[in-house]
Amino acid sequence: MTIPLPASVDDTLALLTRGDYVADRSLATALYLALKLKRPLFLEGEAGVGKTEIAKVLSATLGRRLLRLQCYEGLDASSAVYEWNYARQMMEIRLAEATAGGASDRDALAADLFSERFLVKRPLLQALEPDPAGPPVLLIDELDRTDEPFEAYLLEILSDFQVSIPEYGTIRAPEPPIVILTSNRTREIHDALKRRCFYHWVDYPSAAREREIVAVKAPRADARLAAQVVGFVQSLRGLDLYKAPGVAETLDWAQALVELNQLELEPSVINDTLGTLLKYQDDIARIQGSEAARILSQVKTELAATTAR
Ligand SMILES: Nc1ncnc2c1ncn2[C@@H]1O[C@H](COP(=O)(O)OP(=O)(O)OP(=O)(O)O)[C@@H](O)[C@H]1O
Ligand SMILES: [Mg+2]
Repeated sequence: MTIPLPASVDDTLALLTRGDYVADRSLATALYLALKLKRPLFLEGEAGVGKTEIAKVLSATLGRRLLRLQCYEGLDASSAVYEWNYARQMMEIRLAEATAGGASDRDALAADLFSERFLVKRPLLQALEPDPAGPPVLLIDELDRTDEPFEAYLLEILSDFQVSIPEYGTIRAPEPPIVILTSNRTREIHDALKRRCFYHWVDYPSAAREREIVAVKAPRADARLAAQVVGFVQSLRGLDLYKAPGVAETLDWAQALVELNQLELEPSVINDTLGTLLKYQDDIARIQGSEAARILSQVKTELAATTAR
């Protein structure tokens, strides 16, 4: 049975909540509209802010298949869409030779060699196939890592949701899949592709929302520890670091501190666990020691002020 798509923005928020995803209203609105109007959703944002997770949560909560295309430089159609199973085709030809027949056999063999049996379907083609559970979720992850020719190819598929295979015919999706594209914006994606999609910038969450995320994803963290962790990370994002920590790092840090039985942050523990949060030695060197102590005392003062209010 197909799980119906959300019928409103509130419904979409509830769906994401069921999947343990803490979203703000603007993201839920973008998602609701993309689902309703059957348009791909293009999510851009810094690393670790929860872009990929949205596709996973949609697939899980809507009971749809998740087809993931991880993009990389040099990704081509044979890895993304389809290719013919050349080895199997050769084998078939050898077998046919061994049991040699007449001209009609040859014609039959030629037709058979380009039948579905020999077609290796990659995620973009799989996403066009009908599914009893409803159209699948197609995640085209980290699109900025591919090159422009691939983008042009994608444009064609996302416009018509069909693929033409010269030897086989055209495969058209009976219903468009739910498409989520993500980018870390290491390069700009072409306007023509963006025009096919709805766009949403996934920002770092506010402190309140990030505390909610920690409560959902790292429930073993003490509330005071969680508030300090979030406050600390949010301060780091305000500094001009080489690579600011994302939500993924906040969760890693909270979990690490739980494993170390910390009920609150202390300067020495921060120094010892910075590697879960910052992944560049320059950033670590800058924060370690007095700077970490300064941020911590500032965070504690702010938290004391808000609880006193
Ligand atoms: N709003 C949120 N609610 C719940 N969990 C979240 C949220 N945002 C991020 N996370 C968690 O943070 C982690 C990182 O998220 P995700 O992998 O989706 O980030 P990303 O934006 O795709 O990062 P990258 O650009 O590095 O691929 C995941 O474990 C995810 O569950
Ligand atoms: Mg991702």
